[in-house]
Amino acid sequence: MASIVASLASSLSSSLPYTSCSCCSSLIYSKFRASSVIRLSFVAKGFFPICSRRVKVVMAHTIAKATLGLTLPAQIDLPKISFAAKEIDLVEWKGDILAVVVTEKDMAKDENLKFENSILKKLDSQLGGLLAEASAEEDFTGKSGQSTILRLPGLGSKRIGLIGLGTANSSPAAYKSLGEAVAAAAKSAHANNVAIALASTEALSTESKLSTATAIASGTLLGIFEDNRFRSESKKSTVTSVDILGLGSGPELEKKLKYAEDVSSGVIFGRELVNAPANVLTPGVLAEEASKIASAYSDVLCAKILDVEQCKELKMGSYLGVAAASANPPHFIHLCYKPPGGPSKTKLALVGKGLTFDSGGYNIKTGPGCSIELMKFDMGGAAAVFGAAKAIGQIKPPGVEIHFIVAACENMISGTGMRPGDIVTASNGKTIEVNNTDAEGRLTLADALVYACNQGVEKIIDLATLTGACIVALGPSIGGVFTPSDDLAKEVFSAAEVSGEKFWRMPLEDSYWEGMKSGVADMVNTGGRQGGAITAALFLKQFVDEKVQWLHMDIAGPVWNEKKRNATGFGVSTLVEWVLKNSS
Ligand code: BES
Ligand code: MN
Ligand code: ZN
Repeated sequence: MASIVASLASSLSSSLPYTSCSCCSSLIYSKFRASSVIRLSFVAKGFFPICSRRVKVVMAHTIAKATLGLTLPAQIDLPKISFAAKEIDLVEWKGDILAVVVTEKDMAKDENLKFENSILKKLDSQLGGLLAEASAEEDFTGKSGQSTILRLPGLGSKRIGLIGLGTANSSPAAYKSLGEAVAAAAKSAHANNVAIALASTEALSTESKLSTATAIASGTLLGIFEDNRFRSESKKSTVTSVDILGLGSGPELEKKLKYAEDVSSGVIFGRELVNAPANVLTPGVLAEEASKIASAYSDVLCAKILDVEQCKELKMGSYLGVAAASANPPHFIHLCYKPPGGPSKTKLALVGKGLTFDSGGYNIKTGPGCSIELMKFDMGGAAAVFGAAKAIGQIKPPGVEIHFIVAACENMISGTGMRPGDIVTASNGKTIEVNNTDAEGRLTLADALVYACNQGVEKIIDLATLTGACIVALGPSIGGVFTPSDDLAKEVFSAAEVSGEKFWRMPLEDSYWEGMKSGVADMVNTGGRQGGAITAALFLKQFVDEKVQWLHMDIAGPVWNEKKRNATGFGVSTLVEWVLKNSS
């Protein structure tokens, strides 16, 4: 069997230093154990390349061994959508849907019930007044969230859509959700070719035209994406092209659109990682996915994966304590980005919580609202980090070195597992009395943060689905930010303004550390119920060098969209923006 897999691997790429088969863990692990920094030349083809439906014979034999429940994700190629910025007359544009973005003010009409806005006026006269009539009948006033699609003859486009923006001075977040609304309309109309235009662009500077176009493009792309890998039948997206009209054209805008596509591909990758269930996405598979990102962008990324033995050598007792109950072994994942040509002036680390499943351990998650069935998303921090790695591998920002670090494992229950009350010793020598095995994320992050500091970085951002308390404080769509550094907070909030993701700074109240004192060890891992997100952040702070600037994001809420029952990819776009701010 092993030889079949090996020959299959070598037939895929003779330069491949190890097999990439998701099914055959033994071969993968044997190479990972070598653990030298690997620069790979194999270009990955999406998620789980060998175990696609192309290799049924191998799969049939290996599924039962590797994947609980016999589930394997289908290999579905992401829809190829081409984005273009054009300066052409809306009336002339030919395609399936022309979406016109309007504010409430744009919808104003004169005494003859004709549009005052010049673009709407022109479209309406081409349509013999039907646009004004139909929008009035549908009570469309241009409010944010409103949209209407009309099938009217007389234009180059089959359908015309009006999409409400609300007020004129809108944020990237508003333009992103507008792109999502266009995507929804395009999907339900089974459209191939879509165009988007703003009814009024006069007030926009060249700079804001660029950022508006990119926000619309990312919203549209992310709105079109659907994760169908785990359905037996999947509906295909029909959209093949999106034209952005009237926001400029030329190389600068094209470059921005390419950037939006690169970031979106990272967001989609992050979503796929989080959506994948824990029986499919084990710590080993997460390590493999990260290695594939490194191999796909091997000119700038390399991967290093540490196994249990190597983590023991590094004295990562806190992380290994969490992993001790699991039949699926932990994998400590470290990707490194080095820019092409020339030295880096800044060294950064992005650290993600990577619990591929969190049962709670002996402090098992029970009772209504504990969301144990959603705890596959407990690697949402890791997903954001690797999503950012994928985007950065494509964008290749100069002058900055980046370390992507995830201590991946499961929090399970067994006779070999950590007991409540056990004392573990982290790699910086600090001892922790584990008074609650369900506060495991911080135990894994402790060793990951020590490791990050040892890379000699100046700044660290960690992302973690760390506490239910943060969801109680900020609700489901806002991430909590904790940092002693006002400068770093400023950088991150200005990045978030561009990305459109919502964050709120929380206090790192030192006096609350009192509740984290242990009678026998250096600290306990949980304080009381009150201020739970803050005490969790204070715990992490114990493992960061004082000379390193550090910022913690608690993304327990925004990692998951309850309504869509789907991952959001939260964090990726803010991380990429932040990295660019630190590049030269
Ligand atoms: N992964 C959870 C946090 C979480 C809970 C995220 C619910 C999303 C939804 C984390 O490991 C955890 O269990 N935290 C505990 C900490 C407590 C034991 C101090 C929590 O928040 O309940
Ligand atoms: Mn937990
Ligand atoms: Zn957890």
